[in-house]
Amino acid sequence: MRCLTLFGILTLLALAACKPEPVDTWQPTPYILPTPRYFPTANNIPADNPMTKEGVALGERLFNEERSCAMCHHKEYSFEMGPTGTLENLGTQHTILPLINLAWNTTGLGWKSQVATLEEMVYAAYTDPTEINADTMDVVRRLLQSTLYHDLFKKAFGTDEISFVRVEKAIAQYVRSLVFANSKFDRYLRGEEQLTQDELIGYQLFVTENGADCFHCHGGGANALFTTNLRYNNGLDTNASEEFKAPTLRNIALTAPYMHDGRFATLDEVIDFYSEGVQYSDHISPLMHHVMQGGVHLTEQEKQQLKAFLNTLTDELP
Ligand code: HEC
Ligand code: HEC
Repeated sequence: MRCLTLFGILTLLALAACKPEPVDTWQPTPYILPTPRYFPTANNIPADNPMTKEGVALGERLFNEERSCAMCHHKEYSFEMGPTGTLENLGTQHTILPLINLAWNTTGLGWKSQVATLEEMVYAAYTDPTEINADTMDVVRRLLQSTLYHDLFKKAFGTDEISFVRVEKAIAQYVRSLVFANSKFDRYLRGEEQLTQDELIGYQLFVTENGADCFHCHGGGANALFTTNLRYNNGLDTNASEEFKAPTLRNIALTAPYMHDGRFATLDEVIDFYSEGVQYSDHISPLMHHVMQGGVHLTEQEKQQLKAFLNTLTDELP
């Protein structure tokens, strides 16, 4: 009897010893960035942070946490703040920028292109005293208290280690996934829908030098991001020497107030500025071809047509 038991134990031990090592079964699902054929081919996805469905899902959750990005970047306003996003309300140095199609920005983020990558922008937003104003260690400590996050980090990164570098990576993945390419104008480019006569004339004005002359800095059919992502001085003030990024004009109907200081409340005010209000300075971009006439001088009807075209750049939100 005793012998058999011993035999039994030995067998069990032998079986346990032969049990294969647990293999690493972490296999995240690749996230394929939906790229319209008329978008640039170069994107900013870094080799050490490939997009995965699990990473994007974790990033979305972190983005929408209580003290996080969604305090200011609201989905329904193209990830800006809407009409309340004035400098007085925000307390930031500049107004907010939209978070759309940023996977194709390869020339720096922010109004002054001051931040090189989306990963670094997550760090900047968390630590800036005028933005989230948090200690990254506190952020990590708070996440460590939640069992849910252990599981989500494991799914996204293979182990349940929670670090700020992983927070940066996940949120950057989520922001890269915010692709906007289904406006009326996109459907026009794809031959699925016609523009109205006024919208078409507005488009013509937008892309011609003798018209409204917007395309050099804000793109068009040939640059469907509707931004070059470069900085210019567009003649807002006579004494201003600074250059700011020409923001994308996609979803522009949703992102008032306009300009880095939010000085214009409506698109009509913006169009009036480009038509009659351009100020000469030594620093103005040479692409502001009509500065000596104070602007491109559109008729009332042309202003409405240009606005009608700009309104075709609004996406239906998912
Ligand atoms: C307090 C409001 C606020 C919060 C919270 C905030 N942001 Fe921003 N965000 C801004 C402002 C203001 C700017 C423009 C900054 C500048 O360039 O001066 C900006 C700009 C950006 C840009 C640059 C976009 C471009 O086109 O260049 C990105 C990316 C961004 N934020 C991502 C984030 C992320 C990710 C978070 C969360 C980790 C976050 N922001 C949290 C206000 C905020
Ligand atoms: C020389 C380049 C240039 C040209 C040409 C130009 N823009 Fe701009 N645009 C800019 C820059 C730079 C800014 C941001 C300026 C700032 O805030 O200081 C801007 C800002 C804007 C904004 C506000 C964006 C926001 O999110 O706040 C709108 C709308 C706009 N431009 C529309 C137009 C239209 C319409 C035309 C043609 C009539 C035009 N632009 C021509 C460079 C240009």
